[in-house]
Amino acid sequence: MKHIFIEGKDSQNTLLLLHGTGGTERDLLPIAEMIDPEANILAVRGNILENGMPRFFKRLSEGVFDQADLIKQTKTLNTFLNEASVQYQFDRQNIVAVGYSNGANIAASLLFHYSKPLRAAILHHPMVPRRDIKLPDQTGLPVFIGAGKNDPLCPQRESVELAHLLLGSGAKVSLHWEMNGHQLSRTEIMAAHEWYQTHIK
Ligand code: MLT
Repeated sequence: MKHIFIEGKDSQNTLLLLHGTGGTERDLLPIAEMIDPEANILAVRGNILENGMPRFFKRLSEGVFDQADLIKQTKTLNTFLNEASVQYQFDRQNIVAVGYSNGANIAASLLFHYSKPLRAAILHHPMVPRRDIKLPDQTGLPVFIGAGKNDPLCPQRESVELAHLLLGSGAKVSLHWEMNGHQLSRTEIMAAHEWYQTHIK
């Protein structure tokens, strides 16, 4: 996968940056700086192009995911993480995903398909990736969900549903609410930073 890796000063944790639709691997670099300026950064570009816009998996229409492709691309990302950890010599067990929108959805999909694929996950405006499976065991895995009470793409009830599904797998879920639609606001990033200091640092 197209990506950039930046070695951090404190290389214990690696932030995996996953952009939203139409973004690139550079989009979330300023957010990583706000969350943990010392961590390694692995910033990845989605493999799919939708009308020229990079994404992490195909969709049939807005909010309706191509499930077969979601499963395929989730596997590709998980394998990429295994390989990147060997190539760049960071700890595979200490990856903290930071995803926004489509990037949050593929990060959530990792949690739906693999047991403990990440150390933790920060999901900004995620959706429920799929509804037809029992989640693998994620006991104790910290998850921050930043959601919008007025998010037109992801209604409030879907954010709550995702939190419940992850709680059911044993994850420790913190749900943070904003009123900025689907946008990623500074207050939401600062809340993720506070959460990171408490649960990860
Ligand atoms: C998705 O397709 O992953 C969601 O609808 C969010 C987005 O628009 O990227």
